[in-house]
Amino acid sequence: MKLWGRMLWALLSGSGKRGGTRGWASSSWRPHLPLAGLSATELVSHWTAVFEKRGIPEARESSEYIVAHVLGAKTFQSLRPVLWTQPLTPWQLQCIEELSSRRLQRMPVQYILGEWDFQGLSLKMAPPVFIPRPETEELVEWVLEEVTQRSHVVGAQGGPLILEVGCGSGAISFSLLSQLPQSRVIAVDKGEAAICLTHENAQRLQLQDRIRIMPLDVTLEGNWAHFVPWGPMDLIVSNPPYVFHQDMEQLAPEIRSYEDPAALDGGEEGMDVITHILALASWLLKDSGSIFLEVDPRHPELIGSWLQSRPDLSLDLVAVRRDFCGRPRFLHIQRSGPQHGCPTDAWPGPQPPRVPG
Ligand SMILES: C[S@@+](CC[C@H](N)C(=O)[O-])C[C@H]1O[C@@H](n2cnc3c(N)ncnc32)[C@H](O)[C@@H]1O
Repeated sequence: MKLWGRMLWALLSGSGKRGGTRGWASSSWRPHLPLAGLSATELVSHWTAVFEKRGIPEARESSEYIVAHVLGAKTFQSLRPVLWTQPLTPWQLQCIEELSSRRLQRMPVQYILGEWDFQGLSLKMAPPVFIPRPETEELVEWVLEEVTQRSHVVGAQGGPLILEVGCGSGAISFSLLSQLPQSRVIAVDKGEAAICLTHENAQRLQLQDRIRIMPLDVTLEGNWAHFVPWGPMDLIVSNPPYVFHQDMEQLAPEIRSYEDPAALDGGEEGMDVITHILALASWLLKDSGSIFLEVDPRHPELIGSWLQSRPDLSLDLVAVRRDFCGRPRFLHIQRSGPQHGCPTDAWPGPQPPRVPG
């Protein structure tokens, strides 16, 4: 599948979301007379036709999600059948019209609705923070499998200490925290909007006690020092910016106009941030600690060669996994030797310290 096709699919697919019009205020009351008296099913058909005429991708899915959201449901199919045929109120019609006009501006459905599900968690979404993609759920599932199967990644307090680099909305961190009740996470991102949204989602999900959220650019020198208070990490997880710079122009208008380019653009070979994460990992990981990365299908080979050229990092590419489209997209990299270069007296001791909220 072409890059834009894959990204568009990701923008509109998913397990659904919950909504309603809470907190949504219409400032300009303009009843749309031709639509008065229409039912939800008729509205979906109407907006599907409008979207198709205007070349909006996933026209039916978009209109179904918008209509369902205004009626307080996650998906159109989950609406009570009586609501499919009942005429909508003028206020509901107005809400649907306003939300649909944003879709006509190519705003992704997730931003229009303001929330999206990831691994069964309902997360707040807000532009320009990266919208979690369904393939990232596969990365999370792989990490969970490894933690469950391999005792060496489990921390001394019964659960692993995990660093997520580039947390965005916090989707990966919160999935791990909610499914690993003993785990603690340090989530970093260089984007201010991402840091704020992760804080909001921590409160929303009541997971703030086991996560520390820090603004940090991992490409800056000496950044390992920020992690000294927590000691060595069991796991590092990241869905970093990995799009090759020359591919950025091929991304769908939904992505180019609304998502932060810094969340996507990985530089000439998509490796600019990845190589910094690997260098940082060599300072931070425990012996036999693991890194799990989501990457471009060209990266397993590029990263494998890069690691061979950097034996000083003591990191080995131990496994590559394919996504649901069969492309090699996920990497498991493991520390193969003692901790690299980090001044050992800088660590506070063998007990992993508390992760403050
Ligand atoms: C592809 S998004 C992933 C977001 C989230 N983890 C997810 O999967 O939905 C990459 C994230 O990395 C952040 N990022 C980019 N460069 C970074 C850097 N140098 N240091 C820290 N975070 C960075 C971006 O702000 C963005 O939130």
